[in-house]
Amino acid sequence: MAFSKIFLLLTAIVGLVASQAMTSDPSALQDFCVADKDSPMRVNGFPCKDVKDVNGDDFFLAANLDKPMDTTKSKAGSNVTLINVMKPAGLNTLGISMARIDYAPKRQNPPHTHPRATEILAVLEGSLYVGFVTSNQANRENKLFTKTLNKGDVFVFPEGLIHFQYNPSYDKPAVAIAALSSQNAGAITIANAVFGSNPPISDGVLTKAFQVDKKAIDWLQAQFWENNHN
Ligand SMILES: *[C@@H]1O[C@H](CO)[C@@H](O)[C@H](O)[C@H]1NC(C)=O
Repeated sequence: MAFSKIFLLLTAIVGLVASQAMTSDPSALQDFCVADKDSPMRVNGFPCKDVKDVNGDDFFLAANLDKPMDTTKSKAGSNVTLINVMKPAGLNTLGISMARIDYAPKRQNPPHTHPRATEILAVLEGSLYVGFVTSNQANRENKLFTKTLNKGDVFVFPEGLIHFQYNPSYDKPAVAIAALSSQNAGAITIANAVFGSNPPISDGVLTKAFQVDKKAIDWLQAQFWENNHN
């Protein structure tokens, strides 16, 4: 084998090993580890329920994911139904979760990040304008990537990056199903975390960070920053 071919092969192997090492949740060391939510033990994730007490229900959820969710109560006009390790408990240690997201016309799932997961999203109804922004790059840029998705289209949001989905239609709701590469992806809604923290971040920090006056910060902090996740 020529040296260049060996080099290519080695590069591929190193790449494969590195990509495995970077998956979000640690790999399981057994077939399953159904979360024992009643255990007083505190570990990363949940301790395993005794295998003899495990049955099909631990891997099942009558989630009604085919049903539209109410988007009228939410200020953002969206409703995120999460299916993660909290239910069904069988997801513990399996490194995956999902969500159904409903969007009212002209409303959105506001800019947020998942600290522990990459997300892949499919549009089931309507259309969505979606995007994510890169972390701070060497050229001092934060680059925005966007697409308009129609029914049946898929888009990927890389782990940790700020992203959003907006329903551009004047009259039609939109529905998406998302898969996430963690049993507990977590969500940080940017505006909520920055302007709605408890206790509030000081005006001195926020006026300088956002290059606005104290009045603008006080106004933002006085808004109701809802959580649109269930
Ligand atoms: C989402 O919809 C469900 C059922 O339609 C409702 O009970 C829940 O309050 C809604 N959540 C939000 C954040 O609007």
